[in-house]
Amino acid sequence: MPGLLIVDDDAALRSWARRVLNAQGYECTVASDADGAREALARQDFSVVLLDVNMPGESGIKLLAYLRVEYPTTAVLMVTGEDDLGLATASIELGAYGYMVKPVRAGELLINVAIALYRRRREAEMRRHFERLEGSREDTTGALRRALEASELSPDGAAAIQSEAMRRLVRLAEFRDAETGQHMVRMGRYCELLALQRGLPEEYCEHLRMASELHDIGKVAIGDRILQKPGKLTVAEFEVLKTHAEVGHQLLADSDTELMRMAATIALTHHERWDGGGYPHGLAGEEIPLVGRIAAVADVFDALTNDRVYRPAFPVGLAVNMMEAERGRHFDPALLDAMHATFDHIDQVRRQHAD
Ligand SMILES: [Fe+2]
Repeated sequence: MPGLLIVDDDAALRSWARRVLNAQGYECTVASDADGAREALARQDFSVVLLDVNMPGESGIKLLAYLRVEYPTTAVLMVTGEDDLGLATASIELGAYGYMVKPVRAGELLINVAIALYRRRREAEMRRHFERLEGSREDTTGALRRALEASELSPDGAAAIQSEAMRRLVRLAEFRDAETGQHMVRMGRYCELLALQRGLPEEYCEHLRMASELHDIGKVAIGDRILQKPGKLTVAEFEVLKTHAEVGHQLLADSDTELMRMAATIALTHHERWDGGGYPHGLAGEEIPLVGRIAAVADVFDALTNDRVYRPAFPVGLAVNMMEAERGRHFDPALLDAMHATFDHIDQVRRQHAD
């Protein structure tokens, strides 16, 4: 059973918590203040620390900050009096897994510890998964680079390899996503049409078409339970889904080729919003790279005009009105203008490449 550390200046609470947890087979160590906790941490690894917010000497919040840096894989549960609820809430932002308000009931304590252990295990799995992804990305880009160097390919040959690599990555993304290959094709074409309408050079628009098909490649790292869930996602599940933007970026970034770098930028920024309310970085207006703003319009238009596991497609006119209501909020106004201006072409692509 994993070791727990109970840090509280209240001796009665320490021994009560130890008794409750011991009875369930958890091994517990106790400390009455931050110094005692540091000594215990230096001697032994703990999976969970129960930490009092208000203690004489160094506060629990300060110790929490230290734990997050020095022992990032240890789960911390704050235990707090009614009067420091504000501090306890702030502790969540500092990385605590949760908090309990005194007097704590035995059931509540056991449930919170079990949840913290579960979440800690899931996070360790996610970390291992990312490390594997990172390793395979290095293998793939390294192999591609060596192949290009060894074969002294003509620029045309190199471009052919590049677009083949892109197509295969798109296929990988399709395996993991409930959406179809047609979604990727439509997404690419919509982005290309919007960029052409904005007067961007043809070659750039063609690159954008290919690169934008990889916008959701980061979903390869998201579990089926979330990706295929028919109902609404919980807040925690949505947080996991949101990581696809950064995972996609990690997967594609640092490439020598402009096309792949563009794809990395789109993966990272296609869920940013013009008003700064998007993710992962909450960029606003022109801070969001143009390709990300274009991809946002194309992605949402395609999502609204197609069936989802949790709802049927909206009629196309309604979808356009819904997007118009988000002018200056979700979307760059200039790109909505571009969408209207080239709408006949967009609608043609939609009908030609229906699921
Ligand atoms: Fe996405």
